[in-house]
Amino acid sequence: MTDIDVRRLIEEALRAKERAYAPYSNFRVGAALLAQDGSIYTGCNVENASYGATCCAERVAIFSAVADGKRSFKAIAVVSDSCGFTFPCGICRQVMLEFDIPVVIVADSGGTYKEYTLEDLLPNGFKEFGV
Ligand code: THU
Repeated sequence: MTDIDVRRLIEEALRAKERAYAPYSNFRVGAALLAQDGSIYTGCNVENASYGATCCAERVAIFSAVADGKRSFKAIAVVSDSCGFTFPCGICRQVMLEFDIPVVIVADSGGTYKEYTLEDLLPNGFKEFGV
C-alpha cells in the first residue's frame, strides 16, 4: 500500500460516510475497499428500525464489490464520526476473512491513520471446515 493509495481510500471512505443512513445511532461510518484491479468500492452503514437488520459500512462495501464480480482485494479503510479510530465489528472481521482482505486501515476525521493486518484483528479466524 502506497501512501497515495491509503490517502485515496480514506478520502473515499469519508465521502461514503456522508451517505450513512444512521437515524437510530446517529453514528455514521464509511468504508472504502480497494480491489486488486485498482477499483474502489465504498459503503456506509445502513440502519434499520429492527436494529438487527442494520448493516455495517464495511460489509456494504464488501458485498457491493462481490456483487460486481470482484473477489480479490488489497485493503479496506474505515472512518466514522468518532474523534478516535473505529475498528470493524466481529461480524465484519469474519466477512473480511472470507475474502482475505489483508490490510485494514482505520482513520480518524483528521486523517491520522493506523494500518493493521487482518491477522492482527482476527487471529486464528475460522475459515474452512477442515473435514
Ligand atoms: N458500524 C459500522 O458501520 N461499522 C463498524 O465498524 C462499527 C459499527 C455501525 C453499525 C451501526 O449502524 C452503528 O455503527 C452503531 O453501531
